Amino acid sequence: MGTVELKKGIYWVGAIDWNIRIFHGYDTPEGTTYNAYLIVDDKVALIDTVKAPFSEEMLERVKEIIPLDKIDYLISNHVEMDHSGSLPRIKELAKNATIIATKRGEAGLKRYYKKDWPFQIVKTGDTLDLGKRKLVFVEVPMVHWPDSMVTYSPTDKILFSNDAFGQHIATSKRFDDEVGWDIIYPEALTYFANIVMHLSGPVLKALDAAKGLELDMIAPCHGVIWRKNIENIVKAYYSWATFEAKEKALIIYDTMWGSTEKMGKAILEGLVEEGIEVKMMNITQTGRTVIMKEVIDAKALIVGSPTLNNGMYPTVADLLCYLKGLRPQGKIAAVFGSYGWGGGATKAITEELKATGIEITEPEITYQFLPDKEELEKCKELGKKIASQIKK
Ligand code: FEO
Repeated sequence: MGTVELKKGIYWVGAIDWNIRIFHGYDTPEGTTYNAYLIVDDKVALIDTVKAPFSEEMLERVKEIIPLDKIDYLISNHVEMDHSGSLPRIKELAKNATIIATKRGEAGLKRYYKKDWPFQIVKTGDTLDLGKRKLVFVEVPMVHWPDSMVTYSPTDKILFSNDAFGQHIATSKRFDDEVGWDIIYPEALTYFANIVMHLSGPVLKALDAAKGLELDMIAPCHGVIWRKNIENIVKAYYSWATFEAKEKALIIYDTMWGSTEKMGKAILEGLVEEGIEVKMMNITQTGRTVIMKEVIDAKALIVGSPTLNNGMYPTVADLLCYLKGLRPQGKIAAVFGSYGWGGGATKAITEELKATGIEITEPEITYQFLPDKEELEKCKELGKKIASQIKK
C-alpha cells in the first residue's frame, strides 16, 4: 500500500498494525494504525512518526515522495512511543531536521531517547512557515499527555489532532467516508472511553480551543481521517466528554456457580419492567474494553460478584481498578453478590466504587449459596428502585 495525498503536497505516510490485539490494556480486535503526515512545501515537515517496529514501513512511504535528507522539520505532537518511536531512526537519515515540540515534549523526548537533537520549542499560537503555508500549534495538555499539542494548517483547513479523534482500527482505507460512520463511530467511542474518558475536562477545553477553526479534515494519529463526519464526531466528543447519560443501566458481574448471575437477571427484570435500557455483561466473557464503551452513556452501574477468599472475584477487581483510573462522572451505582461460608465481595466493591467517586444509592444485597424466590424478588425490587432513580 502506497502513500495517500490528503491535499496537494500533504501525504499520509503512516503504518498499519493489522495484528495488534492489546494496546496498553485495551483490546484491539480490529488492530490499529499509526498515522504520520508529510507536508512538502518550500520546506518539508513530517508530522509525527510511527511505533518503532514500523519505522521502515513509514520510511519507504516517505521515500516514495522525497529523499529523507530533504526533511527540515519533525513535528512531534506527542511523545508517547506509538508516535515518537521512529524518531531515532528517521533522525539518523534526516540529519539536519529540527524537532518541533512543546517544552514538555522536548523534556519527554530527551528522557526517552537520550539524544542531543536540535529542538525548536513551540507554544499555543506559534507558527512555522513552510513557504506556501504556515502551520499553527495549539497545546492540548492531557489530550492525551501533558506534553500533547495539535498542529493546524489554515491554508489546507486540516487539523492534525494526534490522539484526539482517533480510533483503533486497521483498514486499507484512509478516510471516514470510505469506511462508513456506522463502523467508525463505535471504534471512536471505544477509543474515547478507554483512552481519554478521565481527561474529559481537558478534552472540553481542547474542543473549545478548536471552535471556529475552518476544517476540511481532522487527521488523527490512529484510524481514519475525518472529512465527511467532522461535525458528527465533534458533537459526539462533546456528548462523551460531558457524560450525557441515557435511561440506561449496566449490570456488570462475574459468577462462580451461577448465584450472582441469577441475582443479576432478577435485577435486570426489575429495570426492564420499568422501561430502562439494560446491558448485562459478564466480565470474563465481555472484557473491560467493551464494558467501558457502555459506561459512557449509562446512568447506573450495578456491580455484582461472588465472594472468593473473603473478597471480590479477581475479574471484578480488575474491572473496578480500570474503572477507577478512567473516572466516569455522574453515575449512580448499586452492589450485589453472593457468598458461601464467609462474605466480603460486596463490601469490597462498595469501597472501591466509593473511592472512584460513584454514588451508591441503595444498600448492597448479598445472599448465601443460592438465592431463593423471596431473595430474587428483593433483587427485582432493587432493579425497580434503581430504575426510578435513573428516571429522576
Ligand atoms: Fe497514541 Fe497517547 O498515544
